[in-house]
Amino acid sequence: MMKVQGNIVDLFARKIFKGEVVIENDKIISIEEKETTSDLYILPGLIDSHVHIESSMLIPSEFSKLAVQNGTVGVVTDPHEIANVMGLEGVKFMIENSKQTPLKTYYCASSCVPATPFETSGAVLTSVEIETLFRDYNLKVLGEMMNYPGVIYDDEEVHKKLNIAKKYGAKIDGHIPGISGKDLIKYVESGISTDHESFTIEEALEKINLGMKILIREGSAAKNFDALFPLISKFNNMVMLCTDDSHPDDLIKYGHINKILKLGIKQNIDIFDLLNATCVNPVLHYNLDIGLLRKNDPADFIIIDNLKDFNILETYINGKVVYSNGRVLFDTQKFNPINNFHAEKIITSQIEISNPENKKIKVIEVIDKELVTNSFSVEPKMINNKIESDIERDILKIVVYNRYQKKSTPQIGFINGFGLNKGAIATSVAHDSHNIIAIGANDEDLCNAINEIIESKGGLCYVHNKDYYCLPLEFAGLMTQEDPAEVAETYSKINKIIQSNGSKLTAPFMTMSFMALLVIPSLKIGDKGLFDVTKFAFTELFD
Ligand SMILES: [Fe+2]
Repeated sequence: MMKVQGNIVDLFARKIFKGEVVIENDKIISIEEKETTSDLYILPGLIDSHVHIESSMLIPSEFSKLAVQNGTVGVVTDPHEIANVMGLEGVKFMIENSKQTPLKTYYCASSCVPATPFETSGAVLTSVEIETLFRDYNLKVLGEMMNYPGVIYDDEEVHKKLNIAKKYGAKIDGHIPGISGKDLIKYVESGISTDHESFTIEEALEKINLGMKILIREGSAAKNFDALFPLISKFNNMVMLCTDDSHPDDLIKYGHINKILKLGIKQNIDIFDLLNATCVNPVLHYNLDIGLLRKNDPADFIIIDNLKDFNILETYINGKVVYSNGRVLFDTQKFNPINNFHAEKIITSQIEISNPENKKIKVIEVIDKELVTNSFSVEPKMINNKIESDIERDILKIVVYNRYQKKSTPQIGFINGFGLNKGAIATSVAHDSHNIIAIGANDEDLCNAINEIIESKGGLCYVHNKDYYCLPLEFAGLMTQEDPAEVAETYSKINKIIQSNGSKLTAPFMTMSFMALLVIPSLKIGDKGLFDVTKFAFTELFD
């Protein structure tokens, strides 16, 4: 039996009182008012309602260490990234790997793998695999249905997946940015009950009025809290919090869901409203087995210093202290890496490109902190009849190379706004198919950077002459099992090196990793070529 005393935050009675929580085994057996000298606060543990663990670059067992030290006791996670690389095998790895951590990790069956037919992914999850996941792993959620045209225009396979989820009594997560009216109604009537892609209050309100729950997202890539936080108090039962993507450096520096709570506290949002959205709503909506600090609940809770600074002192999951005073109190076993990586090294001549008709070229224009791009056309810089990266005008060569085949043709484009004036960067984290993507100030470094990623079978790197700075990601080319603090340090160090070599982008790797995401406008590049998202069609490099 264990007893914990302090200011108990009761989210159901909406009151805070001095008292004692008594825990036996994994359950709370009593909560009573009692005088205590402790000024600390005891409250339910935090929940990330939608996250892709792969974005932390850590396998689930290591990610969970960062989660619990930030007061997170549970996550709903869509293993969509590894599913694109390794299919069912990847998803099973994530589920198995999570079993060795106390973090309550609820996997979704990823609904849209691959995300588009316009690039080569490593795997496909059809309705057959979706059914296998629900049947064999007792999953509770069908992951975000990004293929909203498929829902609206009655794609057979899409509806099969929705029906399987319903058959197993699972919730269906949505992803429907910018759609309203009839199409949105059809989407909701198909049984899809959440959305984390609303960018304005108006957009979110239309969805709430149709009965959807809104997940307010504040992650490393997309940040919607400032636009959406008024919903937390106005529609308290209809909102949850999520990060969607959390990079390792952000998790270490700013925290996890506690970071979003601090933003809410700064906005003077009622603390009960905030915690209700964070802790209670996900448990009720997804039917999670996570305690909410009531008698007979699983003993999942956190202890913090006060409700203003919100410093996490201890995290309890199923009655066990898993984090206390700066230390994570559980160990994890090393796993054997799994991967799907077959590309063989390339030579510089494969990324050379000539311009026999002296035409202009189309250029991708990057916007800092945005996933959308602009585009324009220019006369390219020519040396020896070849188009070269032009540092003066910041028009650099960008290459996407298929990682799943031994040999293929590297696809070449040009990009403005990256600002790199020396060396090259490359990575195997390239949404959503995770082929190799690289940008360079010259062909030699560019070729070496691509080959470095091929050599390590995934990761990210900056290369200049003989200087190599690398973070190998040995699990599917997306994640590692190295120490989370070291991973975060290496990741931010490489980003800083890129910035010291001219890039003004806030997060160069993150921005680059979205240049192959062919569903977000306007000009992008995949392993099959330059892609005009506004026309949903491939396009020539030459204008
Ligand atoms: Fe997502």
